Formats: sequence, structure tokens, C-alpha cells
Amino acid sequence: MKKTVSTFKKAKNNQKLSMVTSYDYSMTKILDQAGIDGILVGDSLGMVALGYENTLSVTIEDMVHHTKAVARGAKNALIVSDMPFLSYHINREDTIKNAGRLIQEGNAHAVKVEGGREILDKVEALIKAQIPVMGHLGLTPQSINMFGGFKVQGKSKSQIEKLIEDAKLLEEIGVFAIVLECIPEKIAKLITEKLSIPTIGIGAGRYCDGQILVVNDMLGMYSDFVPKFVKQYKNLKMDIEEAIQNYIEEINNGSFPEEKHIFKIDEKILDEFE
Ligand code: KIV
Ligand code: NA
Repeated sequence: MKKTVSTFKKAKNNQKLSMVTSYDYSMTKILDQAGIDGILVGDSLGMVALGYENTLSVTIEDMVHHTKAVARGAKNALIVSDMPFLSYHINREDTIKNAGRLIQEGNAHAVKVEGGREILDKVEALIKAQIPVMGHLGLTPQSINMFGGFKVQGKSKSQIEKLIEDAKLLEEIGVFAIVLECIPEKIAKLITEKLSIPTIGIGAGRYCDGQILVVNDMLGMYSDFVPKFVKQYKNLKMDIEEAIQNYIEEINNGSFPEEKHIFKIDEKILDEFE
């Protein structure tokens, strides 16, 4: 069944939502056919697919390019595309244009932006332009230089108050869901109970309305840094290493390719060349 932002809103208090990131066509096709509710073309792209140290170098061009590939692979999942660093901070016009590219060229159904009160007028502009918006609070990786690193958020009284207020503000302005990243479970539970839109947790415990993980993390394909909240459902790094080692060995000892992998030619035609 095709998932929409209405599917997401209706899931609140009824059904848990499953999300995962993706950056290309082949992976997306597998995720979609497995029945995932939502696919985020995350700006984590910068780290897991492009090899940057953080997400700050990702451009709107990068996001459009990868969103196109992902959208071609999905039939049923809701496609959300991340707005990269500084693409929604300058003014409302630029924000709408940039988000518009993710929708119009990229074929995403919705965009995600990091932050609360600081970007509220931009979120409002997007929603007025009929672009569905997913919020993102807590450890928002585009603010890494302000936080001084990837650190759990929402631990002090002032941080908790700000988180709750920002979640409320985003809900009031009309976002259809909010990602909560790296905050204590009890704070995520509190926020989830206060909202009538779904929360999607990553490192935010068991009481969110849904969960999201970076696909390379959960499949064990990205080992530069494995956060505490990641569960590795597979160790594909090991499987891939083993497959590649077998391949190298078989090339060297002549056991690949086999007869079934080759193309043949009519011997009579060949005779003319021998
Ligand atoms: O870019 C990303 O992968 C994300 C998720 C971790 C929520 O923003
Ligand atoms: Na992101």
C-alpha cells in the first residue's frame, strides 16, 4: 500500500512507523519491497556515501541527485528528502526554491529540516507552498559546531524546556512528523505524549511513534563510527569482504568464470579467423 503523509499522521497511537535512510536506486528497491513505511534521503549521505566527516559539506545538488535515484526505486514508501546545511536558513524564497527542487526534480514527497524556533518562518513558508515538512530536534547534526560534537541532547532543564517548546511550535505550524535524535528515552516519551503528530526516534528510546536508522549502520556496512543506539541487523561488511576475497581467489586460480558464464560462437565462423 502506498504510504503518504496522511498514513503517517493516522499512525499516531495506532501503528508504529518504520523508516530507514537510502541514497541509491538498488538499495531503495530492496527496502521498499521489504515493506518499509518511509525512506529518508538523509544528508547522512555525506558521511556514509560520500566519505565526509560530517553532514555540513552536502549540497542541494547532491541531495537532488540522490533523491532522484531513490525515488525511482520506491513504489510504496513515503520519500522524505533532507534539506542540507544552509539551504533553508537564508530567506523564505531560497528555502521554497531549494525544497521545490527536491520535490519537482527529485520526486520526494516531503522534506526534512533541522531545528525549531530558529527556522519556524521557513517551515511556515514551505507548508504554505504545499510542501510537507518533517521536523528534526535533539541532536541535529548540522549544528555540530554549535554543540561541540555529536553529543546526547535534552539532558538539562533548559534544553528539555526548549525541546518541548520547539516540538509544540513545529506541530502548530503544521509539520506532519518530527524526528527526535539522541535524547533520553523519558524526554522522548514526554514529547511523544504531548504531540498529536508522530515522533520518529533515533537514539530516542522505545516510546516514539516510529524509528529510523541509517541503512549502512543497521546493515553493518559503515564502521567509521557506530553509535550506541544502532542495532546491527546484519554484518554486511563481513559478508562483502568474504565475497570479494572469494572472487579475487577464483580469478587467480582460474575457477571464475565457469562455462555457464561464457558466450559461444558458431565454430564455422570462427574457422575463418584461426
Ligand atoms: O541524515 C540522516 O540520516 C538523518 C537521520 C539519522 C534522521 O537525518
Ligand atoms: Na539528516
